[in-house]
Amino acid sequence: MAKLSIHTDEKKSKINRNIYGNFSEHLGRCIYNGIYVGENSDIPNVNGMRTDIVEALKAIKLPVLRWPGGCFADEYHWKDGIGPKETRKKMVNTHWGGVVEDNTFGTHEFLEFCRQVGCEPYINGNVGSGTVQEMSEWMEYMTFDGISPMADLRAKNGHAEPWKVKYFGVGNENWGCGGNMRPSYYADLYRRFQTYVRDYGDNHVFRIACGPGIADDYNWTEEVMRIAGNYMNGLSLHYYTVPGTFEKKTAATGFDTNTYYETIRKALYMDELITRHTEIMSHYDPEHKVGLVVDEWGTWYDVEPGTNPGFLYQQNTMRDAIVAAVTLNIFNAHSDRVVMANIAQLVNVLQSVILTEGEKMVLTPTYHVFDLYKHHHDATLLNSHLETEGVYAGVPNLTVSASEDENGVVHITLANISADTAYPIDCALTGKKKYNTASARILTNSIGAYNDFDHPEDVKITDFDALTLENNNLHFNIPACAVMEITVS
Ligand code: AHR
Repeated sequence: MAKLSIHTDEKKSKINRNIYGNFSEHLGRCIYNGIYVGENSDIPNVNGMRTDIVEALKAIKLPVLRWPGGCFADEYHWKDGIGPKETRKKMVNTHWGGVVEDNTFGTHEFLEFCRQVGCEPYINGNVGSGTVQEMSEWMEYMTFDGISPMADLRAKNGHAEPWKVKYFGVGNENWGCGGNMRPSYYADLYRRFQTYVRDYGDNHVFRIACGPGIADDYNWTEEVMRIAGNYMNGLSLHYYTVPGTFEKKTAATGFDTNTYYETIRKALYMDELITRHTEIMSHYDPEHKVGLVVDEWGTWYDVEPGTNPGFLYQQNTMRDAIVAAVTLNIFNAHSDRVVMANIAQLVNVLQSVILTEGEKMVLTPTYHVFDLYKHHHDATLLNSHLETEGVYAGVPNLTVSASEDENGVVHITLANISADTAYPIDCALTGKKKYNTASARILTNSIGAYNDFDHPEDVKITDFDALTLENNNLHFNIPACAVMEITVS
C-alpha cells in the first residue's frame, strides 16, 4: 500500500500553463511535411497548415510554441522568409541534414499557425550570425502599430494589423551552435541586443536570455545572471534525456528494462538541475523576477533506421510517456521559478507529440500525457506527500503532482514508473473541504509499447472506473507503467 496525502488547504505556486509548451524548429520534417503542407496540398489544410495537427493541438490546449530554432535560429535571417514565396531566398540548413530551406514557411506562416492553434508565439532571434538591427526590425515588423518602415513592409506583404508577440529569445545555445561564446561575452551581447527589442504599444516583450551550455554549467548561469540578470525576464535551460552516450544514444524502441530505468533515472536529473540553477538565480534575483524557461527538454535516441541522421526522427513509446509524466511533475513542483517549458519537438523530431507520414498522423504516448495533464494549466499547486520505494538506483516507483483549479476542482497526476509492479494507493485529501465525486483516466501499457501508422491506438487514454472515494479518501490500484489523471470535486 502506498500512502498519498494531498493537502488541499496548503496552496503553493501557480502552475504557469506555458510549462506545457512545445518547440518547432526548421529541422527534418517538423515544419515541412509536418505542420506545413502548403495551400495546394491534398492533405486537408487551412492556409497550408494541416488541419488534423491544428485540431490535435487545440485538444491539449497547447499554450505556447517556440520557433524557428534551436541551432537554426542563429543562422536564420527573417527577411528571407517574407514576401512572395516564389522569390524568397533559399539557404542551406547546415545544422540539420544540409538540405535546402526554401523559406516558404516564415514569420507570417508561423504566426498564422499559432493563430489557428490558439497558442502564444515564442520567437527566437539570431545573435550568433545576425545583427542588432535585424533583431530590432523583426520586432518592429511583427508588432509596430502605425506608420514605420517595417510596419509598412508588413502591410505590403498582406498583414496590415500588427501581431502580438510576447515571448522573444535573444539567441540560442550561444555557448555552442549559437556562436561558441563565453558567458561574459554573451551576457554583454545580450544586454546590447535586448535593448533594441522594443515594446511597441501594449506589446510588452518577455525577454529570454540564453542559459547554460552543458546543462550543469553552473558558471554560465552565475556569470549571465551577474552581468545581465537585471535586463531579462527569463533565462533558458536545455536538458535532454539520452539513455546511452551522445555518440551512441541507443534505439527508441526494442530496449530492455535496465535501459528503461536508466532513461528514467536520467530524466529525473532535471530536478537537481532546476534546484541548483534556481539557487544561483535566487542569489541575484531573490524576488523571483526572472523565470526559468526550460525551452528544450525530452528524450534523444538514435534516429530510426533508414532515416536521415540529421532529421532526428524517432519513435515514441510508453517510456517516453513516463519521461514526460515525471518531468512535468518536476516542473509543477518548481513552478515558483519555472515559468515556461518547451518539449523538443512538436512533430516528427525527437520526443514528438505527433508523427506524420503522408496524409497519416498518429498521436504519440507523449501526446496523451499532455492531454492527461492539461487541467494543471494555470491551476494552483497543492502540497502533497507520497510514500515511495526504489525500483532501481535513484528511481522511485511513483511520482505525483496535485493542483486546484479556479473552480476548486482538484487534479492529481500520478505515474507508476515500475515496469512490472502495480500498487494499491491510499490517498487522503486533507483540509476543510468535503469531496463527493472522483473520476480518473489512465494511459498504461508495457514499457516498449508505441503507436504507428498501422496501429495508431495501441497506446491510448481510457477511463478508469476502479476507484472509490469515501470520507475524502481515495482507493485504487495503479497498474505498472501507467500515468493517471484523477479529478476530485
Ligand atoms: O532540438 C535539437 C537541437 O538541440 C536544437 O537545435 C539545439 O538548440 C539543441 O542542441
